[in-house]
Amino acid sequence: MITCDSSVQLPFQSGAHGLECDGVSVQSIVESVGTPAYIYSASAIRDAYRAIDDAFSAYPHAIHYALKANSTLALARLLKALGSRADANSAGEIEVALRAGFAPRDVVFTGVGKTGAELDYAIARDVNAINAESAGELDRIADRARAAGRVARVALRVNPDIDARSHPNISTGLRSNKFGVALQDARGIYRDRRDVKSLQFVGVHVHIGSQITTAEPLRRAAETLTTLALELRDDGVPLEHVDLGGGLGIAYEGRPMIVPSEYAAAVLPELRRANIPVVLEPGRAVVGHSGALVSRVVDVKQYPDGRKFAVLDSGMTELMRPALYGSFHRILPVSPRQTAETPWDVVGPICESSDVFARERLLPDLCVDDLVAILDTGAYGAVMASNYNRRMLAPEVLVDAGSWAVIRRRQTIDDVLALES
Ligand SMILES: Cc1ncc(COP(=O)(O)O)c(C=O)c1O
Repeated sequence: MITCDSSVQLPFQSGAHGLECDGVSVQSIVESVGTPAYIYSASAIRDAYRAIDDAFSAYPHAIHYALKANSTLALARLLKALGSRADANSAGEIEVALRAGFAPRDVVFTGVGKTGAELDYAIARDVNAINAESAGELDRIADRARAAGRVARVALRVNPDIDARSHPNISTGLRSNKFGVALQDARGIYRDRRDVKSLQFVGVHVHIGSQITTAEPLRRAAETLTTLALELRDDGVPLEHVDLGGGLGIAYEGRPMIVPSEYAAAVLPELRRANIPVVLEPGRAVVGHSGALVSRVVDVKQYPDGRKFAVLDSGMTELMRPALYGSFHRILPVSPRQTAETPWDVVGPICESSDVFARERLLPDLCVDDLVAILDTGAYGAVMASNYNRRMLAPEVLVDAGSWAVIRRRQTIDDVLALES
């Protein structure tokens, strides 16, 4: 049995007929949809969402699932049905949220470089909060809202200079990062604009990074934001919410990991100092464990020094995280194998040396046509896929209550070329 910490039971487990997702044979799914394919467990998403919701049940809170982690419509609808709201990072993600059934007031809109068109769109829809990244952006929102005869609901994203102790490429709360305004400037920015008629300040926002594995940086972010919210209250800027962003990590390697109850225990004492409702924007912690990318071995080779490669039919075009940040994903053969485990380099088919899923990973013998599952790929997997090498986007399948459905079909060359003249 594969477990990663005491609170998480992974949906992909070996059964009598090979790897299963919540009891459904992975092989039988890919026999129908082909490879590569993403397979997600609905129950894993529900469990992960509820674990966060339960952890914060003693405090007024709203979970705005971060669509950037995985915004496939069916998953967005599933989260909506659970009571989630949405965090969108582009006009496209706002549109996905609305089409999935979220109301505009369910949506917070974050993003480092929002275009004028995106701001107009968010203002016109009257989203719950536009999380502004700079004083200049706040002023542009004010001007555009005034021109549209509207009042924009806004929050300011603060950069608290806190080290999330995550991978540098997904740390966003340090002064060296491009995100938000310096903490010492935030109070003045609010004060200078509190009488602007086309702005309604509803919150403060922070997001210090992703795949955060310890509670202390999250506690410090909550402490900083609560202190700022209290100062703003003194300045006559009462807020509706404090938005702590996302960032909760998951156990990719099966090591002990911060769980939602520990996260809540760390931040709630800070939040209670102001007693303002909290907004949370988890992405990875909601969908990360739910997915696997199932691929077929298309070539196997061995160098004279003994190094062995298994080349898959998926690569950085389907799952970019290993090439982008050297991230670790567990890899399992779909059919049970009795052979001894030896080191394998598991690689993709793309002509880039970074197109590697795992180096010297202990695996049983792999042969051409074998199926393997790359685990914990529900977050930042399918959403980051590309058509590089004119490869088609893989299909996505959702397993729920013993049956499965294709929630996004495989892209075809005609889909891709339809955009070209
Ligand atoms: C503003 C914001 N909110 C939420 C998230 C979701 O983060 P995570 O998936 O780590 O929970 C991100 C991701 O980087 C983000 O940039």
